Amino acid sequence: MQKINAAITAVHGYVPDYILTNHELETMVNTNDEWITSRTGIKERRILKGEGLATSDLAVPAVLGLLEKRGIGAEEIELIIFCTSTPDMHIPATANILAHKIGAVNAWGYDLQAACSGFLFGLTTGAQFIESGKHKKVLVVGGDKMSSITNYEDRSTCILFGDGCGAVLLEPNYEGNGLIDSILKSDGSGAHSLYLKAGGSLRPASHETVDAKEHYAYQEGQTVFKAAVRSMADVAGEIVERNHLKPEDIAWLVPHQANKRIIDATASRAGVSPEKVMINIERYGNTTNGTIPLCLWDWESKLKKGDNLIIAAFGGGFTWGSIYLKWAY
Ligand code: UT7
Repeated sequence: MQKINAAITAVHGYVPDYILTNHELETMVNTNDEWITSRTGIKERRILKGEGLATSDLAVPAVLGLLEKRGIGAEEIELIIFCTSTPDMHIPATANILAHKIGAVNAWGYDLQAACSGFLFGLTTGAQFIESGKHKKVLVVGGDKMSSITNYEDRSTCILFGDGCGAVLLEPNYEGNGLIDSILKSDGSGAHSLYLKAGGSLRPASHETVDAKEHYAYQEGQTVFKAAVRSMADVAGEIVERNHLKPEDIAWLVPHQANKRIIDATASRAGVSPEKVMINIERYGNTTNGTIPLCLWDWESKLKKGDNLIIAAFGGGFTWGSIYLKWAY
């Protein structure tokens, strides 16, 4: 039987219009553009403003744009994997809400939560349904309304995050393009270095949790930074080595956009020169599940069939991993 690879056949993204600049942040907390730029590489991020708007509202334009590009209707989608850490609600899954909003009446779906590595986990998971022959059209969405869990009085976190969403379509490929290899890891000993203290079954919402601001993302920056540099760089290096890829074989490194210094360390370990690294952190900040599909969207016009891409991410959990894929169009 012919081997089926799961290939990305379309990509699209969406970021909201409102731009929160470093200069505006200077008026909100005790920070400055020079500190933010030199420590993170971020200049601005997008924020979803307006009442009643949630993560699914970031996904709708991303997915509708994708369907139009691919020339298919929403009813052809068989499965939606929605990778997010900021679901519209705990119940039901945002995948269901999205399916309803776009008219994906024949799809089943679920949410996947692996913090900043979510899109990588989702891509690998979605690929299984294609490779097994179970499905022919799987939508993998990565998006977060990080502004909904960001404390804009905490200068150590509010400078980092932004809102945004990207989506890819996975379809069978018989030419050897698509997902080739993946290495995914998690380590719960890092759980308390980057987390939301309340709102789950451990510490349900109460007046006390709200007063203590426990519904915002809490991060021990240095601890996460050190673990991210080590793990993301190592796993990217590992996937390059085990697939016997030489630096000249790699067309693009697609790193999670959490900090420019983490990206640089990962590129160096994977042997990828700076001009081959997708970086848009200066415009969007860390959109958590959105960073990787938003990079693919921004760079889509430069990608060529057969290009070798190395994707790498690190996030809360801890979770991290890397994917090697061959671009299919
Ligand atoms: O995507 C999921 C994974 N997340 C990450 O990968 C994020 C990893 N962590 C980081 O990117 C970095 O740790 C941060 C960007 C969050 C912080 O950078 P850092 O170089 O680790 O700074 P730091 O936390 O060690 O703080 C250095 C100093 C401190 O002042 P003192 O104690 O030296 O006087 C902070 O209080 O910088 C201060 N500081 C700030 N100053 C101006 C912290 N935040 C700010 C700020 N503006 N926004």
